[in-house]
Amino acid sequence: MKLQLVMASLLCTASIYASPTHLNETQEGIKYIKMLGGSLKSQLKAQLQADPSGFSAIGFCTAKAQLITNEVNAQLPDHAKVRRTSLRTRNSINKPDIKDIEVMKEIEDSIKNKTATATMIRKVNTKETTRYYKPLIVEAACLKCHGENISPEIQALIQESYPDENASHYTLGAFRGVIVSEIKKR
Ligand code: HEC
Repeated sequence: MKLQLVMASLLCTASIYASPTHLNETQEGIKYIKMLGGSLKSQLKAQLQADPSGFSAIGFCTAKAQLITNEVNAQLPDHAKVRRTSLRTRNSINKPDIKDIEVMKEIEDSIKNKTATATMIRKVNTKETTRYYKPLIVEAACLKCHGENISPEIQALIQESYPDENASHYTLGAFRGVIVSEIKKR
């Protein structure tokens, strides 16, 4: 509930701050991660509450995940973008680039080694941008669609919608992927 409230206020203020000169780069990077993460999570939560089997929620994710990502990006200033990726993707649109893979492997290792900083946001410089990576950890609710015992109905929908599906068989607490925000160097 708290998350939804924070999200609502972020979404409402986003258009007012189309050019957020009052935020430093790190604050901007974190804000955009929260916008995408909060929007996806609150809508997924509402779907799962309405139908706990997860069946209507997966229909929703299949139809809307990319749309919601585009909508959030449309609210960001031109020098910024935000997306999700993973070492094992369901939708090939979300596939990682070389830098993403490098950072995610490092995050995965730190989670395996139980490093205290595993879920912290990482700041990474590329030639043209600064990237902020927020790790996503598998929670109980994720298992319905990314776990080891996915229902046959949900499984069928995944097979039908995602020919390159590679995002099942995760266990609780595993590293699932990241939300990445990217700010152009100016
Ligand atoms: C109701 C089913 C469902 C649930 C529950 C669910 N997901 Fe997904 N997830 C999907 C679908 C479908 C996609 C592909 C969306 C798209 O087309 O971009 C996806 C994509 C993703 C991606 C983008 C990378 C990729 O594989 O394409 C991440 C990261 C992700 N999910 C993490 C999570 C996490 C973390 C949770 C739990 C908090 C979760 N998901 C819960 C269905 C679900």
